[in-house]
Amino acid sequence: MDINAAAERVKELHETLNKYSYEYYVLDQPSVPDSEYDRLLKELNNIEEQFPELQTPDSPTQRVGGSVLDAFQKVQHDTPMLSLGNAFNEADLHDFDRRVEQLVGHSSYSYVCELKIDGLAVSLKYESGLFVQGATRGDGTTGEDITANLKTIRSIPLRLQKPLTMEVRGEAFMPKQSFIALNAIRDEKGEEPFANPRNAAAGSLRQLDPRIAASRNLDIFLYGIANPGPLGISTHSEGLDLLDSLGFKTNKERRVCATIDEVILYVKEQSEKRKQLSYEIDGIVIKVNSLDQQDELGFTAKSPRWATAYKFPAEEVVTKLTDITLSVGRTGVVTPTAVLQPVRVAGTTVGRASLHNEDLIREKDIRIGDMVVVKKAGDIIPEVVSVLADRRTGEEKEFHMPDRCPECDSELVRLEGEVALRCINPQCPAQIREGMTHFVSRNAMNIEGLGEKVVAQLYREKLITDVADLYTLQKETLIRLERMGEKSADNLLAAIEESKQNSLERLLFGLGIRHVGAKAAKTLAMEFGTMDRLKNVTTEELTAIHEIGGKMADAVVLYFNQPEVEQLIGKLKAAGVNMAYTGPVQAAVAEGESAFAGKTVVLTGKLSQLTRNDAKEQIEALGGTVTGSVSKKTDLVIAGEEAGSKLEKAEKLGVEVWDEQRLMDELKK
Ligand code: IVH
Repeated sequence: MDINAAAERVKELHETLNKYSYEYYVLDQPSVPDSEYDRLLKELNNIEEQFPELQTPDSPTQRVGGSVLDAFQKVQHDTPMLSLGNAFNEADLHDFDRRVEQLVGHSSYSYVCELKIDGLAVSLKYESGLFVQGATRGDGTTGEDITANLKTIRSIPLRLQKPLTMEVRGEAFMPKQSFIALNAIRDEKGEEPFANPRNAAAGSLRQLDPRIAASRNLDIFLYGIANPGPLGISTHSEGLDLLDSLGFKTNKERRVCATIDEVILYVKEQSEKRKQLSYEIDGIVIKVNSLDQQDELGFTAKSPRWATAYKFPAEEVVTKLTDITLSVGRTGVVTPTAVLQPVRVAGTTVGRASLHNEDLIREKDIRIGDMVVVKKAGDIIPEVVSVLADRRTGEEKEFHMPDRCPECDSELVRLEGEVALRCINPQCPAQIREGMTHFVSRNAMNIEGLGEKVVAQLYREKLITDVADLYTLQKETLIRLERMGEKSADNLLAAIEESKQNSLERLLFGLGIRHVGAKAAKTLAMEFGTMDRLKNVTTEELTAIHEIGGKMADAVVLYFNQPEVEQLIGKLKAAGVNMAYTGPVQAAVAEGESAFAGKTVVLTGKLSQLTRNDAKEQIEALGGTVTGSVSKKTDLVIAGEEAGSKLEKAEKLGVEVWDEQRLMDELKK
């Protein structure tokens, strides 16, 4: 064969192989057996070996690149890869629709609904039809170049049907079956299984050796064009059709909906069909169809106003509740905890779930031995949702809270208006232990190296009877403890010593006064300055302070009136623990003197140029008050990266929103 004939044959083979590959991977309708594809690919390989100059980057032989990378290159996205606001129920969808309606005026608009594929967002760049670069989302502005790995995904065309220059966005994912098979292999090899298909897909695309990604059977759905302007289309759905015609794989479950009610119907239908899909989805994405209207609606700091993501309720699984154990907290509350046959839910193994109190156990009629439905509330905290009563065998045992404290055997009481049972014995060892753990915790005295276990050990060995004893610990006694080396003993003593210098609010919070959280402790410390002033404070003085209510005031006065408290504070003082506020003093800044004076500000999302605490301190120094949640009283919300519900709420309430740069600019003034 001469080179001309070879070139001719290569062209034919590209066309035929691409067609077969498209039919197989994109359309899921193969027209020839696999062996035919393999035969032609082999022929192409042979020709390319003989005439290396005929091997092009878009050749079907170039899916799995040979070289292993040292690291991924960074890629700056020309158009940022944003995330979406969330909707969790019908009401949220109606809210979204109202906002859209308000902003586009009363002209008509429609939506496109799509499945929200649970994978990894990627961006693909084509130049004159040739696939030149693929990248991860990264932080939205900068991602990583994973071109070699993406090339291994057979449904990604290496050359488009038209020589267009464009950037497309989509979700790479691992089908459910491939995920199950992969984990079975990993189990056999004794390797840690992937928590879910999303992690498996992300893990595969983050491999420096493209052969690994090639072996993982990944797939992709494309759902958008980064910059559709020059393509002569006017709606998002035309954009998706264009993607189809260029050879991309898009998801066919999409639907154009004329009203939000149609959207809700689609959401319901897809929630039902979800289990039958061969890939995982975690919700539905709803997008305004008209591209002009999308432009009109624009973006907030982090997401488009023209789209939202409806998130399906958390995953639920069934397991056996084998026991109910009790624990006594710092304030004496006795909490029942379900012991579960370990089960995987939403990515982690769950073996315990708090049952909170007896009322809840009665309400759900939870019995020991029951099969129960478990989910993760907010996708984080394990929770027993309900009991499968029809799976009972008759062996199940009803659970009753004890009358006596499981730790100290004193009688438990139910305080008026509370559901919880409490041990009110101030000498209860569990409460003392928990109280001490709280004292050393991060937001309190912040003594590193003193976790729950060490505290329990010190207490059990009678080396500490109260928190003041921490300051009398000696190295010789510490190193006698199990698992306490010389180095850790030194570190621990240094951390204890350092904590003596803490500002008063840490000590106040650490003491565990009822109703006094970290924020209230700060207010008290700033207002009164020293422990001595606080010890003699009256309810009236306290309630005169804006942030302090009657309940907290009573609790503070009651606390300091106890002789044991007087003694404890004396002991801490004698040990050299600082008893005064040493933090920044809130300057009296007149309104107008700074952008923050007299304003209530909420910080949300990730800040990149300073920590949240620094931002808070600087805003407060300029006369602002920083609070935790957005309400009608909020004047300003500073939204960093990935800001969530607070930002949404701010927008709903029409509160002014700044991005981080604006904050920095104001702070520099
Ligand atoms: S549109 C600017 N459509 O969901 C809007 N996203 O927070 C860009 N996702 O990580 C997103 N399926 O990767 C869109 N049909 C779909 C999607 C989808 C999954 C992912 C996306 C992003 C997240 C949105």
